[in-house]
This record gives sequence, structure tokens and C-alpha cells, in this order.
Amino acid sequence: MLASLFLLLLVPGSWQGKPIRPPSFPGLPTVKDLAEAAGYSATDIEVITEDGYSIWIHRIGNSSGPPVILQHGLLLAADSWIARGPDKDLAFLLLKTGFDVWLTNLRGTVYNQYSLKYSRTDPQFWNFSFHEAGYYDIPAFIDKILKIRKAKKIFYVGHSLGTLVFFVMNSLRPEYNSKIQGAALFSPVAYGSNPDALGANPFLRFSFNNADAIYAEFTSRRIYEFLPRSASSIKSVEEFCSNLSRSQEICLDIIGIFVGEHRTNIDKVIVNICYDVFFLCLFI
Ligand SMILES: *[C@@H]1O[C@H](CO)[C@@H](O)[C@H](O)[C@H]1NC(C)=O
Ligand SMILES: *[C@@H]1O[C@H](CO)[C@@H](O)[C@H](O)[C@H]1NC(C)=O
Ligand SMILES: *[C@@H]1O[C@H](CO)[C@@H](O)[C@H](O)[C@H]1NC(C)=O
Repeated sequence: MLASLFLLLLVPGSWQGKPIRPPSFPGLPTVKDLAEAAGYSATDIEVITEDGYSIWIHRIGNSSGPPVILQHGLLLAADSWIARGPDKDLAFLLLKTGFDVWLTNLRGTVYNQYSLKYSRTDPQFWNFSFHEAGYYDIPAFIDKILKIRKAKKIFYVGHSLGTLVFFVMNSLRPEYNSKIQGAALFSPVAYGSNPDALGANPFLRFSFNNADAIYAEFTSRRIYEFLPRSASSIKSVEEFCSNLSRSQEICLDIIGIFVGEHRTNIDKVIVNICYDVFFLCLFI
């Protein structure tokens, strides 16, 4: 008892009290709510990475089938996999075919509220890149899930940044290759140094060519969390982009400017469009 009290005092940040569940936003569904609406249970599990970052991951259902990780992309989070409902989302389709589905988050998302070393307001907390996410976060998730499932291998589904971090892990920690049963990598991101790979999209070109200046501008203003999620931002974009709103066409035009015009590929009959194209929602 005395020893653990002593330890508690020694571990930086622990005095703040450990959150017992992931953050939620008033009026917005949590991962658990979204899973339950589709008829599944959900379990939130906290993972502490080797370098001390606390990240919540979510198990949807409790299938005894082969485990699979679904790793979101840039500026998204686990809920982007399950915002559309049981007949549409990959997570639910995988559950129906017998997989054990785990939605993981990366450091820097709302599901990462603290690290053992730095508070979220400390600039050092934000001193990471896709390198750390691939080197620490993904291996920590894999080890945690394999331990819970008493399994040796896992499937991996990555989208965008979720593919990049997978490449980082398998390159720098090659022992993890043998823990992967198979991987499906959507919109893979591997090289950023070839400007031609950015295509003609002016927004991507601008961001890439000015990345250092943009970074310096934000840090000089002590803004480290880029486009933080808030209930009001999600709500207002939902209203603007929902299929029930007359402004949806304008919303889709704006999305087209950022990611290119692929209107036919966008599912317009959704209210929660914001979870799917979260970063675009926030630009609006
Ligand atoms: C799995 O979930 C179902 C329903 O959500 C529940 O009835 C069952 O007891 C659970 N099984 C285990 C092993 O947790
Ligand atoms: C960020 O961390 C690295 C070590 O991982 C260190 O070399 C670098 O100086 C840090 N950057 C800042 C701005 O503190
Ligand atoms: C909008 O989407 C909802 C489902 O989220 C659907 O029930 C409704 O029919 C749609 N409305 C229109 C006008 O497409």
C-alpha cells in the first residue's frame, strides 16, 4: 500500500488521476454508442506505449475469430470506421464474416489524453511524427491485442496515414512482420519527396511546399493540436453537409477542392459525414 502510494508520487502525471474511459462530447455518439446502435457491444481499452503515451483502443463485439486492427488515417479517429452503420462500414462487415474487430487510434487524437512524461499542454507532448506513431503506437496495440486474444498473428487494415505507420513499424521493428497474418492498405502513403506524386491538387502542393513554414507559424503561436475536435465544430459541419441540408452540394464542392472531385464516390445519404471526412469538415 505504502509502496504503491510512493510509486504514484514518483510517476509524473499520475497525480492527475487516470481517466477511466475515453473522452466524450456532449450530444455526440461515442464509439460505444455507434457500435451499440449497430447491435454490437464495445470495450474501450487503454494502452500505454513504450514511451509513455496513453491511447484508447476499442474492441467492437467480442468475436473469437481472427483479430484485425483497423487503423484510421490523418486527422481521423477510430469512429470514422463505424459512423455509417451496420450495412456500410467495413468494421461491421468484417464482424459479420467472423473477424474480431479492433479500432485503434494514434497519438495526438482525442483518444490520447496524456502521456506519462508530458501534459497535453506541454510542447514536448506534441514533439512526435508518424515515426513515433509507427515505432511505438502500432506495436503496442498489436502486443496488447495478441496478449488479450492469446494469439500469435493479427490482420491489419490501414487507411492513408494508417498505412504509413505500418511501413514504419515493419521497417524499423522487423520482428513485427511475423506477427502480421495479412494487411490491406488503402490509399497507401510511402514517399513524400516526389512532388509529382502530389498530382495537380493545389491544396496538397501548397501544404507540401510550405510544410516547414506552416509548422513554424503554428508553433510560434503555441498551437500544437491541429484542428482539435469539438462538439460544436462537428455539429455545425453536420448541419452544413448532411443529406438533409440544402447546403450539401456546396459542402461537396468544398471537399472537391481539397481532395479532388470524386462526387460519385461519396456516400451522400449520411448525417455523420463529419466522422468520415473529419478534417475536411473542420475546414468548412
Ligand atoms: C459476447 O457478447 C455477447 C453479447 O454482446 C454476450 O452475450 C457474451 O456473453 C459475450 N461473450 C464473452 C465471452 O464476453
Ligand atoms: C523533439 O525531440 C527530439 C528527440 O526525439 C529532440 O532532438 C528535439 O530537440 C525535440 N524538439 C524540440 C523542439 O524540442
Ligand atoms: C438522409 O439520410 C437518412 C439516413 O441517414 C435517410 O433516412 C433519409 O432518407 C435521407 N434523406 C434524403 C433527402 O436523402
